Amino acid sequence: MSDKDQTLGTARPAGSSLDISEAEMRELSSQVTQLVTDYFSEVSTLPVFPETSGGKTIGKIGASLPIEGEPLERLLNDCRVIIENSRHNGHPRFFGYVASPATPPGAFADLIASTLNTNLTSWRSGPAATEIERTVVGWLASLIGYSDETRGAHGLLTSGGSMANLTALLIAHRAKSDTDVGTTGLWNSRASMTVYCSDQIHMSIPKAADILGLGRAQVRLVDSDDRFRMNVASLHRTLANDLKNGMKPFCVVASGGTVNTGAVDPLDDIAEVANEFGLWLHIDGAYGALAALDETKRQLFRGIERADSVSLDPHKWLYVPIDSGCLLFRDEARARSAFSFEGADYIKVHEQNADEAFAFWNYGPELSRRFRALKIWLTLRYYGVRRIAQSISEDNALAAYLGEQVEAATDFELLTSPELSICCFRYVPPALQTRLGTGDGVDATIDAELDQLNTNIMNVVQRGGRAYLSSATIRGKFALRACITNFRTTRADIDQTLQIIREAAQAD
Ligand SMILES: Cc1ncc(COP(=O)(O)O)c(C=O)c1O
Repeated sequence: MSDKDQTLGTARPAGSSLDISEAEMRELSSQVTQLVTDYFSEVSTLPVFPETSGGKTIGKIGASLPIEGEPLERLLNDCRVIIENSRHNGHPRFFGYVASPATPPGAFADLIASTLNTNLTSWRSGPAATEIERTVVGWLASLIGYSDETRGAHGLLTSGGSMANLTALLIAHRAKSDTDVGTTGLWNSRASMTVYCSDQIHMSIPKAADILGLGRAQVRLVDSDDRFRMNVASLHRTLANDLKNGMKPFCVVASGGTVNTGAVDPLDDIAEVANEFGLWLHIDGAYGALAALDETKRQLFRGIERADSVSLDPHKWLYVPIDSGCLLFRDEARARSAFSFEGADYIKVHEQNADEAFAFWNYGPELSRRFRALKIWLTLRYYGVRRIAQSISEDNALAAYLGEQVEAATDFELLTSPELSICCFRYVPPALQTRLGTGDGVDATIDAELDQLNTNIMNVVQRGGRAYLSSATIRGKFALRACITNFRTTRADIDQTLQIIREAAQAD
């Protein structure tokens, strides 16, 4: 081999390595750290929602495909434009949907995870990361009271609550099917396998039923009581009727905090019914399960330990950056038999030791998986459970405070008393307030007027950038909905938000 061949064989063509010099690395890291630090120190003063319109961000920074690299300074300026044109869930007056701020330790943990770029398929792919994830799953199970010294739990982290719910429903369906559906297909199983939940259930459950090939119609909605909790007598009645009519009930999904109002279904009573009918009990605690950390709310979750599976979202109420969902289950073998796959050489595990043979692909649909556990692990270790629990309790207390302020005001109407950290209410101008509930038959007309007024108020408030509320329909009425899962919110923010709503009403 000539000298020339050797050079060609060993050296990369100029510019093809993506490594950068140490000086460039230091520059990149100090500039990015500065940007992150600035963001965390400014987020409370930024407009919650940007003054923007569709296409404006790309209009500012351009969309041409970069064939050659660009200077760091320009890229960071464009990142600042992206930040300017973002909605800020970390703002203390962001109350929409279920979206919490990320903590700085959680954000930096994501940087470490991406730096390692572990592909968390199995212990062999990520020995340390697998051990951290299994540890974190154990912590989460014990935090919400799903496991203790006598009861163990298993599980895995997911992209979020929707994926955790889908995974749970698949395991439940396979566990309760009388044929090997995974091999033969749904059409060979007994028809009409049905799942039960309240009419307040999150959309991820009917979506999961659809994805599983059951169809949304197989989700039987049971009515809820005056506090929006599943009516257990109706559940019992519906199950008995459906059995008589040849359906095959296989699963009940109880809500551990509904998305609309934060209602927690009577978990213990539902567990009793699930047991009587031999059904899988799944609890969707994506929003609410971590509220069990608030001592004053813990009793609402009595019976959670009787569930076959539970979903919860650290990215909602543990203030961990997205994507951090979790599915817990009691029976590891059931989950494994739903997902494990024989006959693919590329996933053959050669280890003998059970810990080393562990593979997440046996418990869920994903093969390539991020190292999600690090941000949960670092957040919990940095703050400690006591401090996080205090923040969750404070969120619940703030929702209760909002409820009290609304009730005491002459120009607001409370539509749901907060069970956890969600409060639904509407603005009612004093002139209409006196006519509401007078029984003179005009309530429906007034409601229609109030629906329109409060829709306008929500739009004006969202666009105004000083606070952000979303909406819910409460017994047919349009409600302004505030969900507080935010460690920056104070009572002053609540007072200010009510004032902002009043100003929006005047502007209408
Ligand atoms: C009760 C409930 N279940 C499921 C979900 C879906 O969770 P994710 O958005 O993490 O997929 C949500 C989201 O708000 C929720 O509130």
